[in-house]
Amino acid sequence: MSQTLKAVRGTRDLLPPETELWNRIEATARRVFARYNFGEIRTPLFEDTGLFARGVGEETDIVSKEMYTWEDRARAQSEKPQSLTLRPENTAGVVRAYIEHKLGETGQLQKLYYIGPQFRRERPQKGRYRQFFQIGAEVIGPQSAGSESPLRDAEVLEMLATLLDELGIVGWTLELNSVGSSADRARYNDILRSALAALAPKMCQDCQRRAVTNPLRVLDCKVPEDQPIIETLPKIADSLDEESKTHFAQVCAALDAAGVVYKLNPRLVRGLDYYTRTTFEFTHGGLGAQNALLGGGRYDGLSESIGGPKAPGIGFAMGEDRLVLTLQAQEADPKAASPLFADAFVAPMANAKDAEKLKTINAAALALARELRRAGLRIELGEGSFRLKKSFEAADKCARRIVILGEDELASGVLTVKTFATGEQAKVSRAELATFLASPAGV
Ligand code: HAM
Repeated sequence: MSQTLKAVRGTRDLLPPETELWNRIEATARRVFARYNFGEIRTPLFEDTGLFARGVGEETDIVSKEMYTWEDRARAQSEKPQSLTLRPENTAGVVRAYIEHKLGETGQLQKLYYIGPQFRRERPQKGRYRQFFQIGAEVIGPQSAGSESPLRDAEVLEMLATLLDELGIVGWTLELNSVGSSADRARYNDILRSALAALAPKMCQDCQRRAVTNPLRVLDCKVPEDQPIIETLPKIADSLDEESKTHFAQVCAALDAAGVVYKLNPRLVRGLDYYTRTTFEFTHGGLGAQNALLGGGRYDGLSESIGGPKAPGIGFAMGEDRLVLTLQAQEADPKAASPLFADAFVAPMANAKDAEKLKTINAAALALARELRRAGLRIELGEGSFRLKKSFEAADKCARRIVILGEDELASGVLTVKTFATGEQAKVSRAELATFLASPAGV
């Protein structure tokens, strides 16, 4: 027997009824984004590898270990193969699109959101997958459009607090920090490098390398034995210049005024190199080790680092898989999540041995189903060769009502409808059927 094929490790199929929850989350996000005047952007699932190397940073875990990269040989013989990568995140792609389409020349702030899959070769565990979905947004534009204002940071954070509340996520925490300007970070990196000179030899291999190449990344280390050493390292807040301090204070003051509660976390440097000034994560205790529901921050130098004009920006990405996990855990019994129910099951009835009649009644049932679906109803369609009992059993599993369409009903235009929750049976004319089926049916 040949081996059965399965979804690749770290990827999964999303099936109904769970996909209903995914759709609800996405619909809520789109609704909230619209209120804040964001528009949707869709960028390609793969990009030139250089975009992530330069944008996200060579020394980050994402770029150094987790990308799905390949050489694209499908070009002309004369050309060099191009290194391509499945997007591990979407911010670099959005900023690339901003530059490519000269969106900065509009002089306006660009407020863009995206919903889609991202790919990272991480060790799969609860809440961590190799293909996962992000719902994210970016606010980017020329300085003259106010893109650097601390008000933008506070507005994005206030929108996130509103969105999580509207999704029904209970018990989230906003953790907030500032990693300063690129000059502040360079200064902090030097301070860390000196502090780590003596400490790094006692740390993991990765930290030993990072201590030399990009000391800030030592703060991302998850190795438990290294944590007490990391605790003793100088804090980035002490390396911020006056401008960065003032910017951060203004973000905090605007959040206080809007009543958005946050917790300062001076260790929050985030695992991507493009961040400047404000960084944040929204965490949730119910998620276990992978407790970040979402992360984001400001990236005032990203556009320039990938060859674009100065275009300060701020954004975030929510882990949609983690939003789903959190909402499922909040429900009393996630397994009891209601299955999909159609408004009606249209059951054609004919003598299975009479092929002509069967054909006619099945065709008539399809036409009736079409009419009802066009009226906005959710309809299941049966099969004329089923006996009455089998049609009822099938309908009872997936629909609130059954509509019988036999030869008599076809001729008279009056249909028999049974409502399962009440056991009620009614004769309904075809003209009134859609209205009748749209009325409450008990369950
Ligand atoms: P990130 O922190 O790498 O940031 O990812 C954002 C969120 O995506 C995480 O908080 C988590 O919820 C989810 N996530 C990340 N990796 C996985 C995974 N392997 N499985 C499931 N969920 C995952 C970014 O991606 C930035 N682009 C965010 C941003 C936008 N910053 C500014 N603008």
